[in-house]
Amino acid sequence: MRTQVGIVGAGPAGLLLAHLLHLAGIESVVLEAKSRAHVEERIRAGLMEQGTVDILTESGLAGRLHREGLAHEGLELRFDGTGHRIDLKALTGKQVTIYGQQEVVKDLIAARLAYGGALHFDVEDVALHGLETDRPRITYDEAGEARLLDFYIIAGCDGFLGICRPAIPAGVLTAYDRVYPFAWLGILAAAPPASHELIYARHERGFALATMRSPKLSRLYVQCAPEESIDDWSDDRIWAELHARLARQDGADQVNEGPILQKGITAMRSYVVEPMRYGRLFLAGDAAHIVPPTGAKGMNLAIADIRVLARALEVFCRDGGTALLDGYSAKALARVWKAQRFSWWMTSMLHRFDGGDAFEHKVQVAELDYVCRSRAGALTLAENYVGLPFD
Ligand code: APR
Ligand code: PHB
Repeated sequence: MRTQVGIVGAGPAGLLLAHLLHLAGIESVVLEAKSRAHVEERIRAGLMEQGTVDILTESGLAGRLHREGLAHEGLELRFDGTGHRIDLKALTGKQVTIYGQQEVVKDLIAARLAYGGALHFDVEDVALHGLETDRPRITYDEAGEARLLDFYIIAGCDGFLGICRPAIPAGVLTAYDRVYPFAWLGILAAAPPASHELIYARHERGFALATMRSPKLSRLYVQCAPEESIDDWSDDRIWAELHARLARQDGADQVNEGPILQKGITAMRSYVVEPMRYGRLFLAGDAAHIVPPTGAKGMNLAIADIRVLARALEVFCRDGGTALLDGYSAKALARVWKAQRFSWWMTSMLHRFDGGDAFEHKVQVAELDYVCRSRAGALTLAENYVGLPFD
């Protein structure tokens, strides 16, 4: 018997798909290039929309998330040295939750292993074949042995640098791409967050974000140049920039220092391919689109794609119906583009653009001021930030 669905990549997208399919009685195999320890320790995003929390809760995956996640009902926008609270809960009735992506991945892996689902780490040379046939295959090496599996459907959940998107013949996909002229330097520090809520700060020296992973762990970011190396940033320089950019006019200091446990630089890019499908291969998550992290949408979009794809696969595997599968790309892209717009807008509003003139600077501040003072402006930010409703 063929396994029904082959899933490449054990990030949030691939693992959640495997889980939802399991709940629907559909067998799948997950193939992951890295080790279990690597995917469980990789520090990524950390903010979940309420709809993301709901999907994990409904599928029985959110026990630890509800115990350890930090619910946030608002956020702060800081500019010209003054903080302005956006009350997400009052504006939308919804909240967001801080819970690290690698924690979601740990929970998903534990669930998969508990029910004995196929999940192979450390596989090499994954390649796709026969995508335009009804018998697509995956070849790979595991522990030095060549293997071949065939499926009804392949889900490409292997992230931005994976092999699934490039396996689609040239000319099929249209790519939309924007590379920003800056990057984020992120640190994880053993220091209690100075503010309970996230602070997004616009400053002449560049953007800064104060977020967290737990009551004892701060996650902090500063805008830097994309060509900079992490070696250019001593701990002292990082703290000095954070203090300067998060400074308030009233002199209150909102950065607690502590040992830096991890640091890294992330490029900023918006990217989408259309359609998110070729033959029997369906792309989901970062394999099909990435967003700059300013809107906190990366993991949420990956999970939203899977919500649509899992339903379509359930129908297909149950009775062969293809209508939902045929509609997958358009349905997923409608949400993707709204999240792209929001992430691009937040990024444009909050970052320092080198070479930007005084006019642009004034408009940026006016926009922030409008968002903070107008209910319509605040609501626009809030309803996108907590996640647009699913239809
Ligand atoms: N074969 C098998 N697995 C692969 C291959 C390959 N050739 N290439 C990449 N992978 C694996 C990666 O090691 C990774 O574990 O695919 C997985 C993709 O996971 P993610 O990058 O986490 O992507 P996704 O599940 O779509 O989640 C999107 O991740 O990058 C963040 O900000 C992004 O939060 C968003 C989330
Ligand atoms: C994070 O907690 O890592 C985080 C939160 C919000 C963002 C980006 C990153 O916009």
